[in-house]
Amino acid sequence: MEAIGDALAILPGAPVAVRSADVEFIYRQDNDFYYLTGFAEPESIAMFAPGENDSFILFVRPRDKERETWTGRRAGIEGAMGQYGADKAYAIDEFQRVAARYFERAERIYYPLGVNERIDARMLEMVKSAAAMRPRVGSGPNALLDPREILHESRLHKHPEELETMRRAIAISAEAHVAAMRNARGGMMEWEIEALVDYNFRRRGAAGPSYPSIIASGPNASTLHYIHNDREMRAGELLLIDAGCEYDFYASDVTRTFPVGARFRPVQRDLYEIVLAAQLKAIETIRPGVKFDEPHEAALQVLVDGMCRVGLLKDGPEASIKNGSYRRYFMHRTSHWLGMDVHDVGLYRLGGQSRTLEPGMVLTAEPGIYIARDDDEAPEEFRGIGIRIEDDVLVTLDGHEVMTAAIPKSVADVESLTTTDRD
Ligand code: GLY
Ligand code: MN
Ligand code: MN
Repeated sequence: MEAIGDALAILPGAPVAVRSADVEFIYRQDNDFYYLTGFAEPESIAMFAPGENDSFILFVRPRDKERETWTGRRAGIEGAMGQYGADKAYAIDEFQRVAARYFERAERIYYPLGVNERIDARMLEMVKSAAAMRPRVGSGPNALLDPREILHESRLHKHPEELETMRRAIAISAEAHVAAMRNARGGMMEWEIEALVDYNFRRRGAAGPSYPSIIASGPNASTLHYIHNDREMRAGELLLIDAGCEYDFYASDVTRTFPVGARFRPVQRDLYEIVLAAQLKAIETIRPGVKFDEPHEAALQVLVDGMCRVGLLKDGPEASIKNGSYRRYFMHRTSHWLGMDVHDVGLYRLGGQSRTLEPGMVLTAEPGIYIARDDDEAPEEFRGIGIRIEDDVLVTLDGHEVMTAAIPKSVADVESLTTTDRD
């Protein structure tokens, strides 16, 4: 609120999304809206008017006995004030009438276009008529501004309660990954492991996956966004699982790669150790004052050295980085912000430069090596292998904390799970 001064800020809730015909997707509130209000119901608008007596106003669906029989209880106007701390609340249908009074007094209005098109249209009408009145009234909106950059800077720096929620999400994801390592066997379908992961998420109260789970066995692991999850796995091949649950609107994002019901074969292990060393190196660099790009550069060097050593890259480390030939096997960046969104909000560059890490930021560290099954430039034994290791890392006051540290990733720890009760 401080950041917007005496302006008016209006935030729309997420629209309901149709899945097919008259079936809707399960409603998911917009993250910016939830971040500021904690209110998860559809058809909501929040208004912040720091200069007024009632500075937090919610427009919500009113209580309606008949409708609630079909779709469940609503907080209603009373609940918006009693439970969600609004100074004033109104029925959503009153938005235009009530907001018009605030518009008359506001010089600047913050509103994010493109989140909810129906409310965009109403806003446009209101701004137009308030602007038309401005010459006669002598006040009213003169500028429409986007609140997202202010909001997203705030979301990028996590509060202790947010970190608590993220830890909860991560603890649940840890159980899911461990269960997958213990249970994957040759002959199972990838979707069985997906179901196991989903079960582990839901049984602990997570909303579900925070992005479609990637359950990629054998050659599927070299397709970065493989989400079909419909192949039969074979014993001894690698299974890459990129899956993290969402808990109370906060995401986790974890990847582990392990041999199905077996120990690593020497070739798998060689590549796995390279990715692991790169990932550990990336994590080691994370601390306040370091550039966001630094973990990536550190991981890249280790990956490229390793890929040259095993004969995957032919040009030598320096040339491979310079001419970009490593991109054939490592085609993504090492990190992204993590928070309410899996690829969370917040700028990566400031003033044209990679920004500096600060305490409270959370980022992933996720290098990988991916060799397509039909890559005829790669030595044959490496073809069809995809490996990624991904952790969630908090920047602390004097270094970092690997929030996902409990999820096994050393060769010995992984093998102790993939071979338990079997060898
Ligand atoms: N799961 C998406 C990512 O790792 O970025
Ligand atoms: Mn990620
Ligand atoms: Mn991921």
